[in-house]
Amino acid sequence: MLGNFSYCNPTKLYFGKGSLSFLEEELKKYGQNVLLIYGGGSIKRNGIYDEVLNILQKAGKTVAEVAGVMPNPTIHKLNEGVAVARKHNTDLILAVGGGSVCDYAKALSVSVHYHGDPWEKYYIRFEEPDCETLPVGCVLTMAGTGSEMNAGAVITNPEQKLKIGHVFADEKIMPRFSVLDPTYTLTLPKYQMTAGIYDIFNHICEQYFSGEDDNTSDYISEGLMRSVIHASRIANKDPQDYEARSNLMWTATWALNTLVSKGKSTDWMVHMLGQAVGALTDATHGMTLAAVSLPYYRYILPYGVAKFKRFAVNVWGVFPENKTDREIAEEGLAAMEGWMKELGLVLHIGELGATAEMIPDIVKATLILDGGYKVLTKDEVAFILKESL
Ligand code: NZQ
Ligand code: ZN
Repeated sequence: MLGNFSYCNPTKLYFGKGSLSFLEEELKKYGQNVLLIYGGGSIKRNGIYDEVLNILQKAGKTVAEVAGVMPNPTIHKLNEGVAVARKHNTDLILAVGGGSVCDYAKALSVSVHYHGDPWEKYYIRFEEPDCETLPVGCVLTMAGTGSEMNAGAVITNPEQKLKIGHVFADEKIMPRFSVLDPTYTLTLPKYQMTAGIYDIFNHICEQYFSGEDDNTSDYISEGLMRSVIHASRIANKDPQDYEARSNLMWTATWALNTLVSKGKSTDWMVHMLGQAVGALTDATHGMTLAAVSLPYYRYILPYGVAKFKRFAVNVWGVFPENKTDREIAEEGLAAMEGWMKELGLVLHIGELGATAEMIPDIVKATLILDGGYKVLTKDEVAFILKESL
């Protein structure tokens, strides 16, 4: 472990069936005015909305709402929420939904008391808030992003064709508390469940495929990846399997709550490619990652053979006898491809609405990071995207 770090994660978690009952206690810690944030209506159909509203009413809170937060929330929706939050003199933002709703709540937290353009400040200049920020609590309904225990907030600007994530440095932007009841994820459409599974897996990959030193984080990551693979196979056959769904929910949180990135470098290029595809197509986040992953990993494999070999053996159980390192490494990716097909993940960006004509714009929208085994050029980004079509 070569890196130095500090570690603090202040999010209090309530996990398991019935854990919403703890919301009542949490609400006592905050002021009178609660802003309830949710998406396109799934929480009204499955009854979670009524459960949450009952608790808010019993606690005597004054509630305003921002409904209709879309998957891949936009800057326009953020500006709309800022106006509602100001008018309501909001004391607590309560997000009830998936990663989009939780991300949106955090973006709102840093924007309500900022009187300039939040897009320019947080997503173009990547500045930290220098104004008052509002506390956020989450009731999670979809496992995948890890947004319930991190300081990330991804916002899309459709006019600028950009989808950008800002991971805030200050841990007070992380949710103060999150309620994780796996039964809430049981009403997810299978497509979303599967997209979420790949999102979890790829978050771990992004932090694993970087660096050459021996560090504890990579061993934790291998265990998490094996748990995702195991649980995903069960959930794929029976989406109502509580044990599998609860393991997926818990793994999602640990995959991206900053723990497994400690003391090491990280890659995140699959997310940069996937987010650029998302900016142009508005496709489901996890599927954009799935569609670019194999071409990307196959392209960088020669630059990181030792780690891809370790991945093959420790995560996929590839037998190393009588094979070259390169062969073992490639077998690992082949096993990963087999698993992705078994789950029915999208493996081509063409299926998500991307076209050859869009490639130059997707390349333009792709931020190039330098933590992976090969720092890509724009031409290499274009090559990988064409391979993904
Ligand atoms: O809007 P509603 O009606 O609620 O429907 C949602 C939405 O259509 C539905 N859904 C959620 N829970 C449900 C449900 N439907 C039935 N039953 C339930 N229990 O699922 C759809 C997708 O929801 P969304 O919140 O968009 O999915 P996800 O959790 O994957 O979040 C995606 C967003 O998070 C960002 C992505 O870029 C994307 O914008 N990310 C955030 C990260 C972070 N904070 O660290 C990291 C990730 O890499 C990711 O980039
Ligand atoms: Zn992700």
